[in-house]
Amino acid sequence: MYKILVSDPLAEAGIEKLMSVPEFEVEVNTSLTHEELREVVKECDALVIRSSTKVTRDVIEAGDRLKVIARAGIGLDNVDIDAATRKGIVVMNTPEGNVITTAEHTIALLLAVSRNIPQADASLKAGKWEKKKFRGKEVFNKVLGIIGVGRIGRVVADRAKGLKMQVIAYDPYISSDVVERLGIEAVSLDELLARSDYITVHTPLTQETRNLLNKDAFKKMKKGVFIINCARGGIVNEEDLAEAIKEGIVAGAAIDVFTVEPPPPDHPLLNLEKVVLTPHLGASTDEAQENVAIAVADQVIDYLLKGTIRNAI
Ligand code: NAD
Ligand code: MLT
Repeated sequence: MYKILVSDPLAEAGIEKLMSVPEFEVEVNTSLTHEELREVVKECDALVIRSSTKVTRDVIEAGDRLKVIARAGIGLDNVDIDAATRKGIVVMNTPEGNVITTAEHTIALLLAVSRNIPQADASLKAGKWEKKKFRGKEVFNKVLGIIGVGRIGRVVADRAKGLKMQVIAYDPYISSDVVERLGIEAVSLDELLARSDYITVHTPLTQETRNLLNKDAFKKMKKGVFIINCARGGIVNEEDLAEAIKEGIVAGAAIDVFTVEPPPPDHPLLNLEKVVLTPHLGASTDEAQENVAIAVADQVIDYLLKGTIRNAI
């Protein structure tokens, strides 16, 4: 028998799939403290997570039977991959299932920030009728600069072209030929910063991308640019963004992800009117959650029963 612990909320379809395997004993417990997790993991062969469970070195070291840590979703910021690899534990994610959903959220944020939709909604619900105050901007024919043309960046580009935006992109790890074949103009980072009316980031958070959009980068942007971050907190420096908004360089920002989640009450973006915020909702649709739950279940089943490894990091 294999013991499977699901320690974050996972869509029912994935849990049912895991439970249908006769060789699996599945425990779903989404309220474990870190100390409790360290105890429970001792008996587990697989740990299935989303983003809340912090799979730190001590948890991994306690997992003497642990064979696989499987993330329903993309980002593995909450897993100590080095510690897992050293212990011979496979770490896998589900890189496909929430791509469309996250790209759609990016486009939703882009339109929301352009047309002041959340602010206007709050104002109307507060009994006001402020038509002048919430005049927005068309996105038609505007330049959208995409940083990171991976799975999500490509879908964002495709949807933005449907809105008749001019899409340019910077990605040092994808050849400009490939980018151009996607119908996107490949440019340098500096050119993207200088030309874009909207900038959206779709990279992982790495040493290289942390603070990629910082004070210096904001200085190179067009006055009136809009910034969207639906990737990872920290790629856009939050203090510098707040400053750039106050200075009038940035006209508005839409942010789904934060350096610390949830952001503390004194976070510099929380009280700025030109900022639209969502609580890490990029992947939060019924469809995406079902996709990643089914994918993670299939991958754990295939690995434990057949030794087939998919989407290992
Ligand atoms: P991906 O790996 O498919 O693509 C990332 C791209 O970024 C790659 O093409 C890579 O070459 C590029 N890149 C890496 N370093 C770069 C740099 N320094 N400058 C420019 N480009 C660089 O990843 P993805 O699936 O498209 O995910 C993108 C991001 O979105 C990740 O951070 C992921 O965690 C995040 N994400 C967020 C949500 C959410 O809920 N908000 C949901 C899913 C994914
Ligand atoms: C991801 O990395 O997949 C997203 O951030 C969504 C999530 O938190 O699951």
